[in-house]
Amino acid sequence: MLNPRLDQLKDYPFQRLRDLLAGLTPPSGLAPVVMSIGEPQHPYPDLVGEMLHANRHLYGKYPPLAGTEALRASVGAWLDRRYHLPEGMLDPARHILPVSGTREGLFMLAQIAVPERKGGGQPIVAMPNPFYQCYLGAAAMTGAQAHFVPALPESNFLPDFRGMGEALLARTALVYLCSPANPQGTVADAAYLADLITLARAYDFVLVVDECYAEIYDEVPPTGALEACARLGDDFRNVVVFHSLSKRSSVPGLRAGFCAGDPDLLAAFAKLRSYAAAGMPLPVQAAATALWRDETHVEANRARYREKFALAQAIIGNRFGFYKPAGGFFLWLDVGDGEEATRALYRKAALTVLPGRYLTREGADGAAAGTPYVRVAMVQDAAITRDALERLRDCLA
Ligand SMILES: Cc1ncc(COP(=O)(O)O)c(C=O)c1O
Repeated sequence: MLNPRLDQLKDYPFQRLRDLLAGLTPPSGLAPVVMSIGEPQHPYPDLVGEMLHANRHLYGKYPPLAGTEALRASVGAWLDRRYHLPEGMLDPARHILPVSGTREGLFMLAQIAVPERKGGGQPIVAMPNPFYQCYLGAAAMTGAQAHFVPALPESNFLPDFRGMGEALLARTALVYLCSPANPQGTVADAAYLADLITLARAYDFVLVVDECYAEIYDEVPPTGALEACARLGDDFRNVVVFHSLSKRSSVPGLRAGFCAGDPDLLAAFAKLRSYAAAGMPLPVQAAATALWRDETHVEANRARYREKFALAQAIIGNRFGFYKPAGGFFLWLDVGDGEEATRALYRKAALTVLPGRYLTREGADGAAAGTPYVRVAMVQDAAITRDALERLRDCLA
């Protein structure tokens, strides 16, 4: 009865984590700290509540899927500012489409990007390994073959899509890249992005760059794929980027994001969305419009993460392969056996982290690239984080 493609989606990481920890009890004297889920716990700006309240009468209207003009203008101005786009390159009416948080958009875009066949065979959707699980869900439900490209420390966790080779690239319909990357925090630089964009055009696949962590960075603002398109000197052909307020403004419950890029792809996506998507409620669009205009709260948010990564550096030092990620808010710690460490941290230190293995697929050599790692989401406040990291260090020492 059910679509058999669903059978490929049997191991969502948080279910595996629940199974792993079932039957274990954390010590009663310690406050539990959840660092498995990337759900920002920082306060969000008051203007969220203010805008929702001021626009509450608009809950009585169906929202336009294309977004209000004000939202598109606000997003467009932010993209221009943030990515130094040449004047006039980005037209908010053609190059931007709101999505209700990036996850649903990342998933749904595959529906327009993946044809029945490509390059004489079953289409391929390629993604880094480890990866954000939505990419696999999207690949599986289109009937594509998911192809996992290792993102290993030897190459600064950047996947080598070009190395897939001619035969696989010819069948590739869609590539997902995450920069800054979840989980490793690697940022793809301008040269890497330019090369990947050139590859996408040469093999005519859609390049989706998930930039939802773009505003959480250490020193240098990560280059974006639209910026890389601009530097290549032409348009946004074959490229779509995704952004979200979930991390930038610490409002994962608002469900406000957008995608931007290739106007033909966005027109096709808008068509599909008119059949399938729920528009972003108008009061939410109003709040999002205000948030994309404001940088003050974003700087304060970034400063909070910086403070916590400095704490992590001081507390963890050179243990567990610690490094300060260039972007994002995860620690990716090499603890030898991620599952074993996760159980120990829960049982002895009342900490919940995620085994890296649950974010990976077994490679051709049978090794899961994430097996030695745990992912630690640095989403709590500084005091809780300090306490949690001291417990982590002591427990795993
Ligand atoms: C890599 C990555 N992409 C996308 C998302 C989805 O975020 P949202 O739908 O809240 O924008 C997440 C959330 O954790 C993520 O880690």
